[in-house]
Amino acid sequence: VSETGCLSIVVLGASGDLAKKKTFPALFNLYRQGFLQSNEVHIFGYARTKISDDDLRNRIRSYLEKGSAKSEEVSEFLQLIKYVSGSYDTEEGFRMLDKEISLHEEFRNSTEGSSRRLFYLALPPSVYPVVCRMIKLCCMNKCGWTRIVVEKPFGKDLDSAEKLSNQIGELFEEPQLYRIDHYLGKELVQNLLVLRFANRFFLPLWNRDNIDNVQIVFREDFGTEGRGGYFDEYGIIRDIIQNHLLQVLCLVAMEKPVSLKPEHIRDEKVKVLQSVMPIKDEEVVLGQYNGDEEVVLGQYHGYRDDSKVPDHSNTPTFASIILRIHNERWEGVPFILKAGKALSSKKADIRVQFKDVPGDIFNCMSSNHSMRILLDHSIRKSMSVKQPGLEMSTVQSELDLSYKQRYHGVTIPDAYERLLLDT
Ligand code: BG6
Repeated sequence: VSETGCLSIVVLGASGDLAKKKTFPALFNLYRQGFLQSNEVHIFGYARTKISDDDLRNRIRSYLEKGSAKSEEVSEFLQLIKYVSGSYDTEEGFRMLDKEISLHEEFRNSTEGSSRRLFYLALPPSVYPVVCRMIKLCCMNKCGWTRIVVEKPFGKDLDSAEKLSNQIGELFEEPQLYRIDHYLGKELVQNLLVLRFANRFFLPLWNRDNIDNVQIVFREDFGTEGRGGYFDEYGIIRDIIQNHLLQVLCLVAMEKPVSLKPEHIRDEKVKVLQSVMPIKDEEVVLGQYNGDEEVVLGQYHGYRDDSKVPDHSNTPTFASIILRIHNERWEGVPFILKAGKALSSKKADIRVQFKDVPGDIFNCMSSNHSMRILLDHSIRKSMSVKQPGLEMSTVQSELDLSYKQRYHGVTIPDAYERLLLDT
């Protein structure tokens, strides 16, 4: 398997939201950091809309011209992008795509040797099977690897997930398939393994004897604007909880893996999931945001006001679920997973709530000792300390590892950058 040489990255669904907001900006940042060399890489956008190369470039330019990005760099990067339009279920467009990729490969192969093709599906899962079939039929790489990247929601329930898995699995070998979850690429999610398994003082504390509950919370202060059509099919549980929050739960709850090899980490995660008890109805709360509620900021409409959402939709935009892990480490410790859109603030965090100190001699209301891992880059551990001064009284304080201050000047990669680089 070659990891150098001519690389073609194909973004299917190139004119959509995900591609504009996440995929192209992540590719651009990798390019800026020298991970994608202009003498090796070509990027192909593919979608149904009939537009020119320049139309696509102009559509994504404003998403790249952010922060310290210079406009010349953006222009240089945009020149690497070629657009091919075609439908997702007929061969014609895919044959054209293959022709374009081959041209690029022939041009590069004159000096290089091998080639790599990465297909990133920024598309709804309903078209994954047909698109994968078309890639297999028309666009396979004959002298190097072909890889396929897909994202959640991977089906709607067990049956549809298995069906989808079988349909794609018949076409590609497992090592060619990347089912990615961008939460796993977040810096602080990556840090969970290190925090847990490289710090001696956490090891004896991380269990039912010391931890009262764990909360994994996702909140957004905006609604489903522009994505109502997609969202209404899936709801907050499939959009956030079943994937992102469950992955985080696994990393918080799992045993130490034998090594950092992907299979070893996966094996430990699977054991956690197998130990989760069926959810009790009374431990689930569902809700849907409504434009009249005070918590929803003035400029937002209610969920059902979206023209793509049916008037009587009861799709949840908020859910709170208690999961109970039936094993020696976690028996009796509730894992509370909450996710909601259009709430009063935006945050994603993990709160590990420790039990009170038994036999408190300070009368210090020592409860509320928690550790919080805020996914927007800080880790905070609440502590009881002596109130400075002549009296012996206690006060709640915090050990605060805020990445902005501690790692000043260090660029924290976006989750998608890391995942695309890995694939
Ligand atoms: C996506 C969901 O997977 O994650 C979106 O489909 C959500 O609904 C997004 O807004 C949140 O990602 P992040 O990285 O901004 O927390």
